[in-house]
Amino acid sequence: MIKPKHVAIIMDGNGRWGLKKNKTRNYGHLQGIKTVEDIIKASIKKKLKFLTLYTFSTENWKRPKNEIFFLFKILENYIDKELKNLNKENIKIKILGDHNKIPRKLVDKLKYTELLTKKNKRLQINVALNYGSRNEIIRAINKIKKKKYKISEKLINQNLYTKNIPDPDILIRTGNTNRLSNFLLWQLQYSEIFFVKKLWPDFKQIDFYKVLNKYDKIQRKFGAI
Ligand code: IPE
Ligand code: IPE
Ligand code: MG
Repeated sequence: MIKPKHVAIIMDGNGRWGLKKNKTRNYGHLQGIKTVEDIIKASIKKKLKFLTLYTFSTENWKRPKNEIFFLFKILENYIDKELKNLNKENIKIKILGDHNKIPRKLVDKLKYTELLTKKNKRLQINVALNYGSRNEIIRAINKIKKKKYKISEKLINQNLYTKNIPDPDILIRTGNTNRLSNFLLWQLQYSEIFFVKKLWPDFKQIDFYKVLNKYDKIQRKFGAI
């Protein structure tokens, strides 16, 4: 059994959850933050080293403006509320994705958070924001090409947003949807993938532990027998 170091999550189902409660999709996003808090605590308890959260994809720009800005606003509020705590809990924050289209104020806040938590060691939370895997791979290849190096697996790894982060041991997608939606296509090469029916706001610590327990029973062979 290989102890899991890195869990990546596609936190899906907020919108449907909000509507199911006869409220708005945004109400579901707000509730989703509570699950994020619970899963961070559970990750610390399980001594994970990396937790990667898909918060906004390069495709999510197709959503209505009000929803997009609501998502950015919740992230901003979360940082305002939690920054001190993140440091106290020895948590490091790293942003993955293309900052260019994200509102300046949020980018500044995120960069400040990265700087302030840079030396923290207990858990690294990677926030995938305006992240798209194809964009990430193309960007890496162009960076390598510029230097006229021959493309290699190592060089690609070093030029991805996830540079220095080990590949996820586990990928969880909630929300009863079985696809990757342009998330970590390169890095998930040998990850164990768990599609969970529950919507993200209904996903509890116990559900997270269930996935980790299932993972413990898997013999990972990476192509060997
Ligand atoms: C959250 O779930 C994903 C984010 C973009 C934050 P959704 O907003 O995709 O919820 P559903 O899939 O529409 O229910
Ligand atoms: C994936 O969820 C993106 C995030 C969780 C941030 P989506 O709900 O956007 O995925 P699709 O569009 O249904 O594939
Ligand atoms: Mg969705």
